[in-house]
Amino acid sequence: AELELLVVGSANADLVVGVERRPAPGETVLGSDLAVHPGGKGGNQAVAAARLGARTALLARVGDDAHGTLLLDAQRAAGVDTSGVLVGGAPTGVALITVDPSGDNSIVVSPGANARLTPADIRAAGGLLAAAPVVSSQLEIPLATVAEVVRTLRPGARFVLNPSPPVPLPAEVLAACDPLVVNEHEARVILGEDAGDSPEEWARGLLALGPRSVVITLGSAGALTADGSGVVRVPSPKVDAVDTTGAGDAFTAALGWRLGLGEDLATAAGYAVRVGAAAVTRKGAQDSYPTAAELAEVAGDAPEASSS
Ligand code: RIB
Ligand code: NA
Repeated sequence: AELELLVVGSANADLVVGVERRPAPGETVLGSDLAVHPGGKGGNQAVAAARLGARTALLARVGDDAHGTLLLDAQRAAGVDTSGVLVGGAPTGVALITVDPSGDNSIVVSPGANARLTPADIRAAGGLLAAAPVVSSQLEIPLATVAEVVRTLRPGARFVLNPSPPVPLPAEVLAACDPLVVNEHEARVILGEDAGDSPEEWARGLLALGPRSVVITLGSAGALTADGSGVVRVPSPKVDAVDTTGAGDAFTAALGWRLGLGEDLATAAGYAVRVGAAAVTRKGAQDSYPTAAELAEVAGDAPEASSS
């Protein structure tokens, strides 16, 4: 069966503690029991797409350790092709996550093996890149590695980037994005001081930097899409948020997959918004992602998109 989505990105063990509130500098707070979940923005994207039914592969690096085994097992259980997951060179990446009572999270990532996914590793994975109609990346791996992905895309392949955590992006990478997928925080970092105050302004500002299209995720307000044919607001179904960790990763993976199937940007974003909404209703990142059947149940009532 032909590959539908290649995710090039990070894999982390998520060490999660629930807290009533976050500690101030110098303060100690007691939290819940520790939970260890498979995560990382790349690993999350791959699992999200595979659970929805996409034929998905992951190109990543994990350590030769117990966390690496946990992450590989989770990918395989979801049906992801892990032939591109390299092992060794540094400890598996770890994310230290606190989740507060409203479901919001704060994350510190120790990149570990993710920082050792090199441009040479990308060149050595030419077969996977040559097979991929859509490639999706994030920035928990080196920017030079993402730039090499852009140079290695097969002709006509679609590149989707969530620049998270955000840094200023080289023109070569920006020009390849179709779309660039950002939340408010990422939009503001990339745009700098003159970002403006509305998602429509951020979208216009980001488009001026060169990507072929832009998608802005707006949490419970859904998303906004922007390309040469205009700007569309895509609302989200209403859900009770339990844990927002990794919801953006599920959104981006679903978006890239549906675009590869031929959907237009707003239609694909409408599907992806429902996937993200379903993901926030359960704990964890990968553990919270819906199958296609669960998606129909959890969030089947998204309102129609509206153009502006
Ligand atoms: O986007 C959520 C992810 O960010 C978590 O799974 C964690 O690993 C961090 O990378
Ligand atoms: Na979740």
